[in-house]
Amino acid sequence: MKFFIAGATGATGRHVATLLLQQGHNVVTVARNPAALQSEVSLYPHLSVTAGSVLDMADSDLDNLITDCDGVICCLGHNLTFKGMYGAPRLLCRESVERMAHSIIRTRRQQAEHQPPTKFILMNTNGNRNRDLDEKLSRGDRLVIGIVRLLLPPHRDNELAAEFLRTDIGQNHQDIRWAVVRPDGLVNQDQVSNYESFPSPVRGVVFNSGQVSRINVAHFMTRLACDAGEWQRWVGRMPVVYNAE
Ligand SMILES: NC(=O)c1ccc[n+]([C@@H]2O[C@H](COP(=O)([O-])OP(=O)(O)OC[C@H]3O[C@@H](n4cnc5c(N)ncnc54)[C@H](OP(=O)(O)O)[C@@H]3O)[C@@H](O)[C@H]2O)c1
Repeated sequence: MKFFIAGATGATGRHVATLLLQQGHNVVTVARNPAALQSEVSLYPHLSVTAGSVLDMADSDLDNLITDCDGVICCLGHNLTFKGMYGAPRLLCRESVERMAHSIIRTRRQQAEHQPPTKFILMNTNGNRNRDLDEKLSRGDRLVIGIVRLLLPPHRDNELAAEFLRTDIGQNHQDIRWAVVRPDGLVNQDQVSNYESFPSPVRGVVFNSGQVSRINVAHFMTRLACDAGEWQRWVGRMPVVYNAE
């Protein structure tokens, strides 16, 4: 299979790319600094890295990368610097998701025969609610998330990116099916370990939250991409992922 990854130089995106490449899939990506993926390129001939970013590429260049992909996986996130958090592009995730979705639609409609809808898997945050469900936050969590939404633009960006898939693409789009992955507090681990996924948070999102390793989130996203049963379970939903205790 062939996948386009946005954010493959990031802490989670790099695991997603490596796991897919190790399974023999073709991976296409775009990176502001392609040298950051040099070691992966030398290990895996079926990895293709183009210099640039989803937001800055011409439509035709993005289409050339996305065409024929079975799935698009977005692990973009704002760099944790003042410029990354408050500078442009404020809507990095929202606008990138929309550009990639429009590219999927354009390229599929140029093909004579329609394949099954392209999968769109978005890495998001457990601080975001799935508004299709009656997800309740504790009063404390609600207060903190409200403050975070006001003070940290990347949180709003994550919310809008997921909302684009949930409402603009919706559940029955002829070209795209999506899943939005909501990790709990992210930590770094070297190896995949046991983890669990749920339709909605089973812990607090700020108070009494838990942890999940980036490599487990990546493993879950690659299972969504490659395992038909896992995809059927979560398509059109927003699973929350935790390390197993
Ligand atoms: N607990 C939670 O729910 C939680 C916690 C943290 C993060 N998250 C979310 O998880 C996602 C990924 O987290 P992570 O830690 O793996 O992220 P990360 O290591 O910071 O990676 C971010 C990726 O986005 C790219 N990027 C950043 N700014 C960009 C720009 N202006 N233009 C193009 N590309 C840009 C980076 O490229 P460069 O290598 O070029 O910088 C990198 O590939 C984010 O959506 C984040 O909000 C969730």
